[in-house]
Amino acid sequence: MSKLIFERSVPGSSAFSLPEGDVPSVELQDSLQGFLRESDPPLPEVSEVEVVRHFTELSTKAFGVDSGMYPLGSCTMKYNPKINEWAARLPGIAGLHPDQPEETVQGALELMYELEQMLCEITGMNRYTLQPASGAHGEMTGASLIKAYHEQRQDFRRKKMVVPDSSHGTNPATAHMLGFELVEVRSNERGLVDVDDLCSLMSDEIAGLMLTNPNTLGLFEEEILEISKVVHEAGGLLYYDGANLNAVMGVARPGDMGFDIVHLNLHKTFGTPHGGGGPGAGPVGVKEFLVDLLPIPLVGKKDGQYCLDYDVPHSIGKVQSFYGNFGVMAKAYAYIKALGGKGIREACRHAVLNANYLRHNLSDFYEITYDRLCKHEFVASAVRQKKECGVTALDVAKRLIDYGYHPPTIYFPLIVDEGLMIEPTETETKERLDGFIEAMQEIAKEAKENPELVKEAPTNAPIRRVDEVTAARRPILKWK
Ligand SMILES: Cc1ncc(COP(=O)(O)O)c(C=O)c1O
Repeated sequence: MSKLIFERSVPGSSAFSLPEGDVPSVELQDSLQGFLRESDPPLPEVSEVEVVRHFTELSTKAFGVDSGMYPLGSCTMKYNPKINEWAARLPGIAGLHPDQPEETVQGALELMYELEQMLCEITGMNRYTLQPASGAHGEMTGASLIKAYHEQRQDFRRKKMVVPDSSHGTNPATAHMLGFELVEVRSNERGLVDVDDLCSLMSDEIAGLMLTNPNTLGLFEEEILEISKVVHEAGGLLYYDGANLNAVMGVARPGDMGFDIVHLNLHKTFGTPHGGGGPGAGPVGVKEFLVDLLPIPLVGKKDGQYCLDYDVPHSIGKVQSFYGNFGVMAKAYAYIKALGGKGIREACRHAVLNANYLRHNLSDFYEITYDRLCKHEFVASAVRQKKECGVTALDVAKRLIDYGYHPPTIYFPLIVDEGLMIEPTETETKERLDGFIEAMQEIAKEAKENPELVKEAPTNAPIRRVDEVTAARRPILKWK
């Protein structure tokens, strides 16, 4: 285990040297005396080289897409071109203040205006708000729009939101937080929405259906047009969780599938890394009949000037301070402009190709619950290993760390036993994918020949297995 920076502290060490102060000291006025520290802050005392070594060492312990393959299904941990970071750091972008007068930020408004247009074109929607700061925040905004739509029509009975049993956890959580009653629609034996079950759930109390397409099994909802018809005929709205848009972008559009509201994860699909606690963006797009409900302000154009448009008659109000996470928008803009329509489609096709290559090559060693053409991800299962050798999905995931791979998402979606949800993303090369296949094959072999080795994994990571429940419920995040 590495030492904490506090444990490296040696009294008297210092990483800086400042010249003697040459301004006279001033007595603080009485009213401010109460704010004075009683003692110096307990900062570690370390030399510059020790500080640098400490943080360099820590950085080598973190795993990210820059260090290796990160096939974390549903999370799209893909490599993003560094030029996007450069674009977002340009002084004219990073140095803006959101309170600046409109005439001084015309470039920024133009970027937002054009980004909105590009997102409309990619998804087949009419307008977007760029405000939401994450996918879940986009869902919250989108589900609020569904609520506002029904209320505006004086249709107060519509209190039920339908979500599939394979849905991402944020869908039911969002609906619940907004006071909707959750109704679960079953998946059929092919892993898709069971349309008969959906029909049986429809009534004049249904507010809408929240759906990811492809779904969390990586499978395209082939009956989406029928699903859309069923929900609309019942008076509900169709919400598209666009976190998986990388699986269809440039090829199919949620707007054409019948979706009324869409959220996108710019931080998964369009140029900003997902995870790491950094800011994201979950823009929400709508069809024309919902535009009047969008959050204010929208970005408009009047007499050749870009402007903030507060003229949204039935707006649900603001959902984020100022205009959203502008740096993420700048990266998305750079990413889409760099790829163009052709590149966007290529990225999508590669994501699908890579996932199918892995699925096909792993199917001799792991059960693939729905073993047919998938989109950007698929769900393998360790049921066979568990039954035959007592090795679980968790064990396989932990052993992958020893082989230098970030584990895939496990035990999700809930409808797959011992699920290993794998999303290679479009940026992995065939050589990397082959390396991953080899590691997974090797682990399947070890599970048979030496199951204890797999159950004890990881054996060469700085931390072995943690008590995950305690780590989640009672995390110790500070020193002493
Ligand atoms: C299918 C799906 N929906 C919603 C989300 C939520 O997005 P966020 O993590 O930005 O809140 C995710 C996150 O990865 C997702 O995979």
